[in-house]
Amino acid sequence: MRKRLSKNERAPKRQGQGCRDPHFPGRPFILLNLAMSADGKITTASRGGESFSSPRDREHMLELRATVDAVMSGATTINAAAVTLGPGPAKYRRLRLKRGLEEYNLRVIVSGSGRIAPEAEIFRHRFSPLVILTTNKAGPGRIAALRKVADEVIICGRTRIGFLRAMQKLCRDWGVRRLLCEGGGELDDALFREDLVDELHLTVCPLILGGRDAPTIADGEGAKDLAAATRLQVASAQRFGDEMFFVFRRAAGSKRRKKLGTSD
Ligand SMILES: NC(=O)c1ccc[n+]([C@@H]2O[C@H](COP(=O)([O-])OP(=O)(O)OC[C@H]3O[C@@H](n4cnc5c(N)ncnc54)[C@H](OP(=O)(O)O)[C@@H]3O)[C@@H](O)[C@H]2O)c1
Repeated sequence: MRKRLSKNERAPKRQGQGCRDPHFPGRPFILLNLAMSADGKITTASRGGESFSSPRDREHMLELRATVDAVMSGATTINAAAVTLGPGPAKYRRLRLKRGLEEYNLRVIVSGSGRIAPEAEIFRHRFSPLVILTTNKAGPGRIAALRKVADEVIICGRTRIGFLRAMQKLCRDWGVRRLLCEGGGELDDALFREDLVDELHLTVCPLILGGRDAPTIADGEGAKDLAAATRLQVASAQRFGDEMFFVFRRAAGSKRRKKLGTSD
């Protein structure tokens, strides 16, 4: 089972051993994977956890999980559905081992307020460590309660998580070189605003969900103006049945980080 790295095993703070982005050394390569309706929604306004994509899309999710050290999701997603963020059936675990990864990926939950239901499905599956990213806003009581259900609780900010620092810590302390974020929209938006998304895997599904309160793939504060928009390039587009599978990469020379303040 994956373990927190000892001091001797950790990469030196500034060197960023194994981390792929030359601009932000010491952090993992970050992929996002989401399915959205043809009108750009990732779920309905009630934010239930029901899936609307095909079995092929679920396979795609497991294939991507089989390439990463850690899988991460926001608190609303964890509270909404029976997600475990695990590698799935044995064939994917074998693939992981063949690629030199741990059999089971690290799992990361994001909650600035620390309001994660202790009865959530994810806590019933102890096949790999669980790390919670939170802030001081959670308060000592909730942080103590989270420490009982998680392998590590990392406080990364006063009220909002600073994801660059959080990712650097995951890289240094847990050896995370590639991380897959599976939403939802609010968490994705925070990553986009910190310019941390290297690759976006987006499945467009043939249905309309509608609803002004239904979340999109990037749903928090968003870009303040067009100059602050995240620029992407299409790396691939494939059709399977009635679904389109897109891969976008961050456009070269993105300078957004300089324009944007990060979180506290
Ligand atoms: N179609 C898809 O592929 C897909 C994928 C994922 C999720 N979903 C669906 O999307 C819905 C959830 O999406 P969502 O946008 O409502 O929520 P979300 O992103 O899953 O979680 C939002 C929560 O994450 C925490 N968070 C995010 N950014 C933060 C930051 N910068 N600092 C501190 N905390 C931060 C906050 O937790 P606290 O409030 O505790 O502070 C926030 O309330 C669910 O219905 C889920 O089933 C669909």
